[in-house]
Amino acid sequence: MQRGQGQGQGQRQRQGQRQGQGQGQGQGQGTLLLSFVLMPLYLDHHATTPLDPRVLEAMLPFFGERFGNAGSAHLHGRDVKRAVEEARDAVAALVGGSARELIFTSGATESDNLALAGVMRWRRAREGRDHLVVTEIEHDAVRLPAERLAREGFRVSTLPVDARGYVSPEALAEVCDEKTALVSVCFTQSEVGAIQDLDALGAIARAKGAWLHSDAAQGVGYAPLDARAMPVDLLSLSAHKMYGPKGVGALWVRRDGPRVRLEPLLEGGGQENGLRSGTTNVPGVVGFGAAAALMSAEGADEARRLRALRDALHAELSTLEGVHLHGPPLDHPRHPGNLNLGFDGVEGEGLLLALMPAVSLSSGSACASAKPGPSRTLLALGVPRDRASASLRFGLGRETSDRDVAQVAAAVRDALCRLRARSPRRPEAG
Ligand SMILES: Cc1ncc(COP(=O)(O)O)c(C=O)c1O
Repeated sequence: MQRGQGQGQGQRQRQGQRQGQGQGQGQGQGTLLLSFVLMPLYLDHHATTPLDPRVLEAMLPFFGERFGNAGSAHLHGRDVKRAVEEARDAVAALVGGSARELIFTSGATESDNLALAGVMRWRRAREGRDHLVVTEIEHDAVRLPAERLAREGFRVSTLPVDARGYVSPEALAEVCDEKTALVSVCFTQSEVGAIQDLDALGAIARAKGAWLHSDAAQGVGYAPLDARAMPVDLLSLSAHKMYGPKGVGALWVRRDGPRVRLEPLLEGGGQENGLRSGTTNVPGVVGFGAAAALMSAEGADEARRLRALRDALHAELSTLEGVHLHGPPLDHPRHPGNLNLGFDGVEGEGLLLALMPAVSLSSGSACASAKPGPSRTLLALGVPRDRASASLRFGLGRETSDRDVAQVAAAVRDALCRLRARSPRRPEAG
């Protein structure tokens, strides 16, 4: 595939836009209308990424002639089992782990739930360790399981972050004790892009005999992540955040130094070493493997390209009045495709709506955008409530071009001018 082929042309009619073709009756009018509109630019790559055509190509045979069950002993089964194991090698290699430590799941949500509940239940039952540490900026896939564990009687501490979105090792040292079983800190935060210092945090957890879990759904391949060399014990991964298919993910679980143990959430056929029963999603897993291999080969170059584009977008927008950068300074550890900006003198919803015909982006994580109120993450960073409600997350990705950046900057400038002209809250000049 030629990357970004035919893309970066501003508004465009996307491949496969004729949704619902051949589906017969029951097609909603909205779907029909959508079939013919020109789609906006896509700058929401933290919510999901488009499937890389090379990944699709790798998956296709497994929707057709290579349909076997990876658990079957016959040739149809062994054929797909080989493909699953190659995918396992590729995903494990991306994070510097060994394949036998990798469990395939339905996505990072399941991996997070399995890591938190599985470890906490195992360690409390066998070792009496009942303390879990999470941070204020975790995705709901960690935050809500932690709340559930608190209701089940586990002790849960929530660590604050600084104004850039980083967790301080000193704050972790203060809350960890001899009963701490697990510390869960996201690798790359999905709204402001902060990349945490897992080396420092893991060393503190280790000193107390706690294990470190990191939700690494975002940013893998763009920043150093070497599971075997770093003091990290469990990693949650998701294919659709790295140009792979939706509905497939993984949990990497350290096998030695220490040997991490956990209770499964699902009981059944005993697949994935008994830790995740259920028939393997072979096309999904194969797609995940292909996406991971591409990320291993191209991630470093892609990160450089994204950083340059993101910095250019920031340079354009920061010349405007009343625009604030949220999260780490751009030269600090931060997702190279992430820019989170707050705008004075406008309502966030109005700004998103004004931009919607030109560009698809969001004000925060996709799961949180449906919920009313300002982003919990921005509030945790100390962003004032008003501005947290008027913020945009720009997520640049593989097919984003220079031209897209110029167009988005122009669209934001234009929308801000229009909205501020009507707003009683417009920022003071100067
Ligand atoms: C940090 C983080 N964790 C977990 C998830 C959920 O991942 P999945 O969609 O694979 O369940 C997301 C996706 O929004 C995420 O950004």
